[in-house]
Amino acid sequence: MSTNNIEEIASYIVSEGKGILAADESNPTCGKRFDSIGVESTENNRRDYREMLFRASGMKDNIGGVILFDETIRQNAKDGTSLLDLINSQGALPGIKVDKGLQSIGESDESLTVGLDGLDERLKEYESMGAKFTKWRAVIKIGDGMPTDECIDLNMKALADYAKLVQDNGMVPIVEPEVLMDGSHSIDDCYAATERSLQSLFNHLNKNNVNIKATLLKPNMVLSGSAAASQAGVEEVAQKTLDCLKANVPDDLAGITFLSGGQSDIDATAHLDAMNKIGGFSWKLSFSYGRALQAPALKAWGGKPENVFISQDALSHRAEMNKLAALGKWDNGMEED
Ligand code: 13P
Repeated sequence: MSTNNIEEIASYIVSEGKGILAADESNPTCGKRFDSIGVESTENNRRDYREMLFRASGMKDNIGGVILFDETIRQNAKDGTSLLDLINSQGALPGIKVDKGLQSIGESDESLTVGLDGLDERLKEYESMGAKFTKWRAVIKIGDGMPTDECIDLNMKALADYAKLVQDNGMVPIVEPEVLMDGSHSIDDCYAATERSLQSLFNHLNKNNVNIKATLLKPNMVLSGSAAASQAGVEEVAQKTLDCLKANVPDDLAGITFLSGGQSDIDATAHLDAMNKIGGFSWKLSFSYGRALQAPALKAWGGKPENVFISQDALSHRAEMNKLAALGKWDNGMEED
């Protein structure tokens, strides 16, 4: 499949059940992940960990894109090969996170994702280095009076401004409006906040003339709050997520690649599989998981070189399971390896 223009790039990333490995943790977030296994978050340790992931055999055929952090896109593997070349050699396209994180909106508990200043110059550099796509994450909280219309509108406008600039620079934008799982809200509250965010997002994308066929949406699934007493089951999550997407996402979008957002690795796979088994939509429905792809591999590694192979096996397994889920061909029995 050729990747000569941005529509082809977007289609390639989600072709044949492929999805995205989100490995774009900022250094502080990577520090938290490494703390959980007692490994110091140094530049070399971050490189060793990511090199190990990118060399896993299960990257091939299952992963169509890898999202990187600025430090990683500039790093070389131990043998001098650039990590970008390593990713390309696995048949995946390199992407880059380009937002600059969250800033509080006034005195409120809500935030606006920033990073538009100087973005055009940064995009030009990343494109010249070989990046094919980019990511920008907006965060929407559910709580007392939240989300406000102001928070949704400011964040979705920024996402649309970012997306336009990315396409003008010859890359595919991933637009990520993440409604957080945190809280004791119901699944219906999550549905409502997700719907409001998606409606605003596609209004702003249309206003900016963003090419939807060359855009990937990275949404949350519609879930019960992680602290809610009653937790929706797999079928309800799958059906409500699909209902929300079908009502609010245009048919010609290149693909939908979910974030995992704190779900367990198996839940993230089971939900994706259930949606693809239901079907009835025109987009590719796939994954762009960080924790749900990496958690077992991180634990198996523990920072020890002798664990590299079992860690790579753990990543390969999750990548393969999620590809099957993106095709609606997974079942729980496959997890008993
Ligand atoms: P999680 O799948 O761990 O939520 O990470 C995806 C991501 O890239 C968040 O921006």
